[in-house]
Amino acid sequence: MTDKLLHTALDLLQEAVFILDVERTVKFSNSVAIDLFGDGFVGNDFVQIIRHPECIKAIDEVRKGKESAEYSISIDYPVKANFSVLVSRLGKKKRGNAEILVSLKDISDLREAEQMRSDFVANVSHELRSPLTALAGFIETLRGSAKDDEVARERFLGLMDHEASRMVRLIADLLSLSKLEANLRIRPSGQADVVAIIRRVQTSLNDLAKKESKTVELEIAVPAEASKIPGNEDELTQVFQNLIENAIKYGSQGTTVSIKVDTKESVAGIPGQAVAVEIRDQGEGIPKHQIARLTERFYRVDTHRSRDKGGTGLGLAIVKHIMNHHRGRMHIDSEVGVGSTFTIYLPTSK
Ligand SMILES: Nc1ncnc2c1ncn2[C@@H]1O[C@H](COP(=O)(O)OP(=O)(O)OP(=O)(O)O)[C@@H](O)[C@H]1O
Ligand SMILES: [Mg+2]
Repeated sequence: MTDKLLHTALDLLQEAVFILDVERTVKFSNSVAIDLFGDGFVGNDFVQIIRHPECIKAIDEVRKGKESAEYSISIDYPVKANFSVLVSRLGKKKRGNAEILVSLKDISDLREAEQMRSDFVANVSHELRSPLTALAGFIETLRGSAKDDEVARERFLGLMDHEASRMVRLIADLLSLSKLEANLRIRPSGQADVVAIIRRVQTSLNDLAKKESKTVELEIAVPAEASKIPGNEDELTQVFQNLIENAIKYGSQGTTVSIKVDTKESVAGIPGQAVAVEIRDQGEGIPKHQIARLTERFYRVDTHRSRDKGGTGLGLAIVKHIMNHHRGRMHIDSEVGVGSTFTIYLPTSK
């Protein structure tokens, strides 16, 4: 194979590839390598591109006669990334004379996914441990100091009920998330009536609203035919249940939560018409820099408050998954001290 043909072939690869001579001088870099590390390294020592001790050690081992060396590195400069690096001898030239091929495969996404998984496990363990620790503490008190105190017993049983319900909810939410993840690629097959769902959710949350001294107002401006959209009733019920419940929970006392259902002819990212549902509260609002993180699992602006209210911090993560499943969009707008508006856009046709 001619050098030109070899270089054209290497340019087609998705990995960054360098060819070095036995002195470690760069003789060629493919187009991915140039995109990542820049041009103009030909003729220079490879150390000028990646100054990573492991990387240099492996190259030197291959220079001294080893067939190949493989390992992964994490670098901050000139790009922040994790690479799986393979260093191999090129051709069958005699020891000390062979050219060396260094290929770097970007595995940053993989590493990020691994990190997310281990963070998730740590979070779940933590979330499960706190109600369990509380339960164990109450049991101990009931057996000890509160043994013959009927009033204290009732109070502790109430608290235990609260903690146990939170664990049940947490597990239900986790199962819901994993089911959604498994079905993400399969589009919802049924038809869902958005207005009917919101009315049902509104009725079911009336008690909560009363308890929190808030009113929930519903304004509907959607033609009957557009209210029915391709979607899954149960999933969309979960979406509105969480958003309206949040608006009630995090809205200030004596204020109104308003829900507006409308149709929009065009929404960025949605082909065709969309049903828009706007849920607006007059609560404390969310600081701008936290808005993007709200849909992360277990993310809460105020952890204690959310826990006090029995929340798991999974509500908006579930909403996001359901919106992806329905090829819909969610927009969050909020101002501290004024309130928040969560808007859901759902396509009216498949
Ligand atoms: N309308 C809102 N106003 C102010 N903050 C909100 C609002 N909605 C959500 N948040 C913030 O976002 C966080 C995440 O919301 P999410 O619905 O995911 O969890 P949660 O309500 O705490 O728990 P769960 O939904 O499981 O009951 C909340 O803890 C709260 O800090
Ligand atoms: Mg919630």
